Amino acid sequence: MFGFGTSTDAAANFPVPRIPDFRTPGSGLYDNLQRYNLSQPELIFDLAFFQSQPAPFYELCKELWPGTYRPTRAHYFIRLLEEKGVLRRCYTQNIDSLERQAGLSPEKVVAAHGNMDEAHVLDSVPERKVDIEDVRRAIFAGEEGWQALRQAHGGLVKPKIVMFGEDLPDRFWELQQQDLQECDLLIVIGTSLVVEPFAGLVGKAAPDAPRLLINREPAGTCEQRVFGFRFQLPEGDNWRDVWFEGGCDEGCHALAAALGWGEDLQRLESE
Ligand code: OAD
Repeated sequence: MFGFGTSTDAAANFPVPRIPDFRTPGSGLYDNLQRYNLSQPELIFDLAFFQSQPAPFYELCKELWPGTYRPTRAHYFIRLLEEKGVLRRCYTQNIDSLERQAGLSPEKVVAAHGNMDEAHVLDSVPERKVDIEDVRRAIFAGEEGWQALRQAHGGLVKPKIVMFGEDLPDRFWELQQQDLQECDLLIVIGTSLVVEPFAGLVGKAAPDAPRLLINREPAGTCEQRVFGFRFQLPEGDNWRDVWFEGGCDEGCHALAAALGWGEDLQRLESE
């Protein structure tokens, strides 16, 4: 069984800010980057742009730094799947490390777009890692901090978030074929599924594996439908895809309850 990390939805009972996703109009990260004066919001994750103007990306890292937000019910649901021994892997596009914070084992998670658990000197060969606590301090100190870090390491230091123009981690490529072929249920949670190559994973699941989408809106693109991803099609000949139209937390709660795991989920959430 698989879980794809969610990108959203702080549970209502947590006194913490709501975790933004990327593309939801109004609340999504991309809609709230005006203060950086970017000609287009995706530039914040563009490698060439970062090299010429590092400040916006560092500011965003500061905002999303692990510890700012708490895992959601959906994150704990994925942890529960691991505890129950049915989680093959959690592939996530999220960069907030909330899967780790929710207690998932590192080997169960593929952080396909990286996260802020590690940092490296850009363009260093072989790659030079930088202590993440030093990076945190530098980023939180603002421009003076990250400029000093750059000088100390002879190059820009970047938390290992995958930018447009960079390859995904080896783990993403190494594990996916066997994972997808052997999964017997694919659960897709809280994603628009428009960013490749991640989005293409859904088309690689074994043909007899049902796929459950938990999302407020349909996900995926026309191109993916060609490869068999048909959440957007009306019911009919598509026997394998089920769409729970609603919140990530709500969907995970309903699924846990249906499995008789409601109390287990509650326990994990309140730990
Ligand atoms: P998106 O913002 O593209 O999509 C989030 C999806 O989840 C949308 O379809 C929302 O409607 C839905 N959604 C949001 N909150 C929800 C909730 N509480 N319950 C149910 N559905 C909800 O985010 P991703 O697909 O995760 O790349 O983004 C993919 C990649 O785009 C990110 O990894 C990032 C960005 O460019 C990098 O950082 C490199």
